[in-house]
Amino acid sequence: MDVCRQQIILTVALVLVTGSLAQVFSFGKCPSVQLKQNFQLGSYLGKWYENRRFFAIFEAFGSCVSANYSLKDDGHVKVVNQGYIKFLKKDNVAIGDAYAPDANEPAKLKVKFGSGPSGDYWVLDTDYDSYSVVYSCSGYGGVFKIEFSWILTRERNGLSDAKIQKLLQSMSSSGINVKRFSVTDQSNCPN
Ligand SMILES: *[C@@H]1O[C@H](CO)[C@@H](O)[C@H](O)[C@H]1NC(C)=O
Repeated sequence: MDVCRQQIILTVALVLVTGSLAQVFSFGKCPSVQLKQNFQLGSYLGKWYENRRFFAIFEAFGSCVSANYSLKDDGHVKVVNQGYIKFLKKDNVAIGDAYAPDANEPAKLKVKFGSGPSGDYWVLDTDYDSYSVVYSCSGYGGVFKIEFSWILTRERNGLSDAKIQKLLQSMSSSGINVKRFSVTDQSNCPN
């Protein structure tokens, strides 16, 4: 493969790993969702694996995706997202910054990668040591909306199907269309 083409693929893959394409566009209003109550950022830090996410065009670029959250001196969170592009045998890393702008809503985080725009990262539900449900929705005049969502797990393949089904049911009953999820390939990972 020529260098230029490889560069383009890497750029696209980086965008995917940073989550910018884990978003979907649709008509209608944002659902009103419940956030994790008394969210404890300290217990949430550390490594998470991506179990599924909204909208993945190029599945092949985004396998083995993980995120590592650690506290910085300024109280913000350092975000290290990592993915693996199987057919290029290349690791892909993106470093970002997250924080909760409003102390009254600790589960509503803003995340930013490089000079890109900041995105919303709302923790709807987590038990801190096995799963996390992340979602956000931006509405535009009640006419259309842009949504992001991920289910993360502490172990690479650490959640039972029964538990996943429960989380999906709970999201559905909040009005989130879980059909938009695509499962992340976490098999044969080098990292
Ligand atoms: C996560 O990042 C922190 C801070 O950079 C590091 O100390 C820690 O080893 C990382 N954890 C994993 C599992 O990579």
